[in-house]
Amino acid sequence: MPQTLDREVSPAALAWFGNAAKMRIIERITADKSPKRVFDYGAGSGAGWARTLADHPEIELTCYEPNPRSAEALRRAVHAARVFSDQPDEITGAFDYIVSFSVFEHVADRAAYFRHARRLLKPGGRFFLNYDDGHFREPGNLLDALRNRIAPILPAIGLRRYYQARVHRADADRLAAQAGFELVDARYDNVEDLKALAKTIPEQDHPAFAQMWLDLEERLNSEFAVGSRMHLGDTTNLWRVMASRTLELTAA
Ligand SMILES: C[S@@+](CC[C@H](N)C(=O)[O-])C[C@H]1O[C@@H](n2cnc3c(N)ncnc32)[C@H](O)[C@@H]1O
Repeated sequence: MPQTLDREVSPAALAWFGNAAKMRIIERITADKSPKRVFDYGAGSGAGWARTLADHPEIELTCYEPNPRSAEALRRAVHAARVFSDQPDEITGAFDYIVSFSVFEHVADRAAYFRHARRLLKPGGRFFLNYDDGHFREPGNLLDALRNRIAPILPAIGLRRYYQARVHRADADRLAAQAGFELVDARYDNVEDLKALAKTIPEQDHPAFAQMWLDLEERLNSEFAVGSRMHLGDTTNLWRVMASRTLELTAA
């Protein structure tokens, strides 16, 4: 049966308009108003958090962002957040939710990344790990072409910040299991042409567009995902046009 969603997209989720994966995850986290601790793992400069926290003061946000300039921008934009930029193993706390948007493909030591997340997740908590493949599909982008080519040597010469490498689904799932996570759900996000189209939509139409987008992706995942031959590191047909995958993980 088609799964129709009749909820409105919340303002907290609309703060992340332009990326269906982020909107969907923020909706999950803000679905109730109970106090919660959230850890954003590789938060960049903060994206939609300022508005989301204004709507949801019950969220206590901690961020880790290794790039000092992005971390500084994050501190300026999201005053309420606790921001770490040094070693992730210095971070303490037990988090109800960990989110990590478009980070994993940039991580050189992926096993360590999972170990830190596992240590920080509360029993019964959820880790939404979202990774993208876009950097590896754009031969026209010279910077990506260069980074992809020299990625294997970057960590060895101390340039971890510029590392990026395609995530193969089997590797991500295996590393998650090895770190002590159980896979609750995995789905594909961000239909590529809709991501581009979203940039053209006037602000007053964002709620309706976001609703249509999330409904469509829900249906694609629940009704039209099938196995196919290996293509760009994944064997699911949706990966061909939805170059973003989200794992929902809990402590095993
Ligand atoms: C494409 S950006 C995404 C930023 C933000 N999550 C967003 O969605 O706007 C990738 C981020 O991953 C961070 N990053 C790279 N390696 C990391 C690691 N090992 N642990 C955590 N974050 C990392 C980078 O500094 C960068 O801010």
